[in-house]
Amino acid sequence: MKVLMINGSTRKEGSTRAVLGIMEEILKGQGLGTEIFWVGNQPIRDCTGCRTCRKTRDNTCVFDDDDVNELIGKCQQADGFVFGTPVYYSSPTGALLSVLDRVYYAAGDVLRGKPGCSLAVARRGGTTLALQVLNQYFLYNEMPLVSGSYWAMAHGTSPEEVVRDIEGIQVISNMARNLAYTMKALKAAQETGLEKPRNEYGARTNFIR
Ligand SMILES: Cc1cc2nc3c(=O)[nH]c(=O)nc-3n(C[C@H](O)[C@H](O)[C@H](O)COP(=O)(O)O)c2cc1C
Repeated sequence: MKVLMINGSTRKEGSTRAVLGIMEEILKGQGLGTEIFWVGNQPIRDCTGCRTCRKTRDNTCVFDDDDVNELIGKCQQADGFVFGTPVYYSSPTGALLSVLDRVYYAAGDVLRGKPGCSLAVARRGGTTLALQVLNQYFLYNEMPLVSGSYWAMAHGTSPEEVVRDIEGIQVISNMARNLAYTMKALKAAQETGLEKPRNEYGARTNFIR
């Protein structure tokens, strides 16, 4: 089983990467495979709402000039997810949101039902709002949302500083162990023959009666 970790910072080796790295070691110690995907520091498209993916239904975004389709392929192979972001003005980074909007709109089905969690790093404030935004992607898509022993935030402006946030690191380390446990529990349930719920889809009223 594999965990795909998305580093939503434009700084490849910044604070977010440092915290994801701590989670990664714990996940590896639990026998899971890991990969850290970096959103990069080049321009990345927003979802334009063109709805081409609604017609093709092939789990790809029509725009193939950045890494989103590659990421969708990685999501397909993954069994669990970690979304990590630095806080930018009380929100996740624009780059991460652009990536996630397109991944979920074009290929939400490849993530559906798989567990995940999110974390935010910041100098000082805005973490809970950023986490709230990231967690909506899981909650929208029948993805069991895993938590730590507090909200998953670590404070600092550099890798050296964030790893000194002992409480934040403890909380996020617990979240890594909880994610590993949840993934194993879901797999064990599947192996007993427990069927997923037969949910119904397609009712879209747009509040119009
Ligand atoms: C554009 C921008 C906006 C930021 N906004 C906030 C903020 O609202 N609250 C905060 O505490 N830190 C804010 N920061 C600081 C970063 O969240 C912090 O330095 C973080 O550790 C950077 O992580 P990274 O190295 O993974 O990019 C901001 C930084 C930038 C570049």
